[in-house]
Amino acid sequence: MNYPVWDVPFIGSGLVVAIIAIIHLLISHLAIGGGAFIFVAELWSDRQKNGQQIRDWLHEYATYFLVYTTVFGAVTGVGIWFAIQLANPEGTSLLIHQFVFAWAIEWVMFLGELSILYLYYYGWQKNSRRMQLWLAGLYFVTAWGSLFVINGILTFMLTPGAWTLANTSILAGFFNPGFLPSLLIRTLVMFMVAGLFAIIVAARVTGDDNLKERLIGFSTKWLIPGALIIPFLLLWYWVTLPDSATDLIRGGVVGVEGGRLEIITRYFWLALVSGALIVVGALLIAIKPRVISMTGAIALFLIAQFGFLGAEFAREMARKPYVIYGVLYSNGLWKHNAVNENYMQRPYLETARWDPEVSLLSRSHGEWVFRLQCVGCHTRDGYRSIEDRTSDWDAQFAYRWLKTMHEQGVMPPFQGNREDRAALAAYLMSLHDREVAAADILATDTLARGVAEPVRDEASEAMEEQQ
Ligand code: HEC
Repeated sequence: MNYPVWDVPFIGSGLVVAIIAIIHLLISHLAIGGGAFIFVAELWSDRQKNGQQIRDWLHEYATYFLVYTTVFGAVTGVGIWFAIQLANPEGTSLLIHQFVFAWAIEWVMFLGELSILYLYYYGWQKNSRRMQLWLAGLYFVTAWGSLFVINGILTFMLTPGAWTLANTSILAGFFNPGFLPSLLIRTLVMFMVAGLFAIIVAARVTGDDNLKERLIGFSTKWLIPGALIIPFLLLWYWVTLPDSATDLIRGGVVGVEGGRLEIITRYFWLALVSGALIVVGALLIAIKPRVISMTGAIALFLIAQFGFLGAEFAREMARKPYVIYGVLYSNGLWKHNAVNENYMQRPYLETARWDPEVSLLSRSHGEWVFRLQCVGCHTRDGYRSIEDRTSDWDAQFAYRWLKTMHEQGVMPPFQGNREDRAALAAYLMSLHDREVAAADILATDTLARGVAEPVRDEASEAMEEQQ
């Protein structure tokens, strides 16, 4: 616990990251798939008799594409950086230290990608056909290169594989078990997104010739590889996931009839159903291209946005309680510390490298423990609200529950000594306007045990002296 926390009311810091990330994901997938689309459409236009007409349309596609991907893509991309370092400084620091060269490559790719896109777009009338083709191709290659790099880092967080704190080889972390299936799924998904985006732009086309039909026919084809292959890739991806994650999803699926549907399973289904809807929608459009309107096309694109929401939330949930699976918990506690009994029993706020300056057993003592250990995943009264989840608790129950919270499988173990636990229990009660003194919780516990235990054990005192 080296850093203070970002305590965002009502939605929580994790959700801030998630909202920005989900918008960014759709855009970034489009930014790459659209590159392939432009390149192939350029080639295709050369073989059509009204090639110039198609290229004019393609320029329109490129206009929307450029504005959408560079403006919103860049803003949300930088937004992710701001948000993750605030929401999870410990995790961000680990990623930066571990993958510093990968990030460097990534930024160069971005710069290259954007420059090439501008050269392509503004060279529309000046450049030769050959040059335009080259630029389009090069754009796709650089953009896909940036996916290749970021994919290694993202999949590392869920499946670090052979990477451990003892073996921090960049290659072991980068080419982790989830790398390849995820790269392939994302590549096919981005072709689908590019096709969907093209359908929107094609839906605007008017006129009696069959240009609209041909453009829509060409665009819907971009969904076919994904529709056919992604289901198999998902199976492959599934087997790379940690058991605890697949158990969670499966537990929820089995429980559907019984009414118990884990949240992760709901996200998982949202992704699957959105994917299926898109495929069905695209089929209908392919059969009757004339009737598709802008609104219909945009609706399909928005469904894709929901699909991303489901998929990314499921991935996020699958990683719970970790930010780096098996290594670092979402609230900044390291796994290797969590298994060290002495470390875990130390007075919690003293493990910080900065001083929250609270008096022992005060309300702010409890609140700081809450901030540091819980707000990474919970809010007081909004997203994953603590108030709702503790409404029928009493102080003694809270005090005991904290000791076993990790047994739920989605939360890290509680870190701190009995005072910290009592302070937090009292704080949780105060959220319901039930004022209980932390000292009383502690006293009841001591009475129940029948012995007055020393407040600190010797081991933790010895550790403190060493520092
Ligand atoms: C890694 C993220 C994470 C952290 C950190 C975390 N929780 Fe949770 N917590 C969850 C998830 C996920 C659930 C289960 C899903 C839900 O209830 O929304 C949950 C559920 C709960 C519940 C409901 C349990 C039940 O049986 O219904 C309580 C109470 C709770 N958390 C309290 C806390 C407290 C107090 C802390 C801090 C000491 C904390 N959590 C830290 C993720 C976290």
